[in-house]
Amino acid sequence: MIHIRGLNKQFHEKKVLDQINLEIREGEVVSIIGPSGAGKSTLLRCMNLLEVPTSGEIYVDTRKAEYKTNARGRLTLQSYMKLTWLRSEVSMVFQQFNLWPNKTVLDNVTEGPRIVKKVPRKEAEAKAIKLLEKVGLQEKINEYPANLSGGQQQRVAIARALAMEPKVILFDEPTSALDPELVHEVLDIMVKLAKEGMTMVVVTHEMNFARNVSDRVLFMEDGQITMSGKPDEVFHLKNARMNQFMRKITHEVELRGVN
Ligand SMILES: Nc1ncnc2c1ncn2[C@@H]1O[C@H](COP(=O)(O)OP(=O)(O)OP(=O)(O)O)[C@@H](O)[C@H]1O
Ligand SMILES: [Mg+2]
Repeated sequence: MIHIRGLNKQFHEKKVLDQINLEIREGEVVSIIGPSGAGKSTLLRCMNLLEVPTSGEIYVDTRKAEYKTNARGRLTLQSYMKLTWLRSEVSMVFQQFNLWPNKTVLDNVTEGPRIVKKVPRKEAEAKAIKLLEKVGLQEKINEYPANLSGGQQQRVAIARALAMEPKVILFDEPTSALDPELVHEVLDIMVKLAKEGMTMVVVTHEMNFARNVSDRVLFMEDGQITMSGKPDEVFHLKNARMNQFMRKITHEVELRGVN
């Protein structure tokens, strides 16, 4: 579903992604773990060109994402316009939800399909209501994001991502900004999506999700994927950096008082 070849990303002189090769198969759930600064978010953001790679190739379902950059390393307007397909096929869910604060829940979910895919309002709303039911928020459709809990906001963000009928959803630490008691309501939805066969790439510190839900775990350090395999294999094969990472995560979890 996603095929990445020789992906590099530099910020100024600093190499943040170093020759990444990666394939994500249809229906696969892949967790990306690793220490802060390893390049996890940058890799995810490159997958839908929210971040523009310095070099490398990205294919979604065999279609190549063509990008040209200007002198400042930004997408040219022409490239940007030509990549509408990519933005609807690869949706993203962010740590900080990134809902539009001045739009209702319903409008947050219908905006993308209406603007990007030109779906008529009535049709977009009917679909949005179904998706909001799916994430358990049918009663909140006319609320504004500020009146929702973090867990509810993130569930709206997931409904919004689904509304584009994407082929893949990318999650960047979707539960890290939530109070511990709200984490499960977002994880439950993600587990449901995984079971339905959605292709998902998830940067996460939730080791239970990585271990029990994903088909494959990637461990990243210094801009490279240094371990990749079935969860049991990767958690078994720990190297020194991963041991250090796991100790830190365990410590954080203990501090938060959850398991
Ligand atoms: N816009 C940017 N400009 C300059 N440097 C950046 C930018 N975005 C990220 N970086 C740098 O790239 C490196 C990788 O960052 P990235 O956010 O991908 O790491 P990460 O693995 O997601 O870390 P975390 O677990 O803290 O979220 C870091 O050194 C970061 O400082
Ligand atoms: Mg990150």
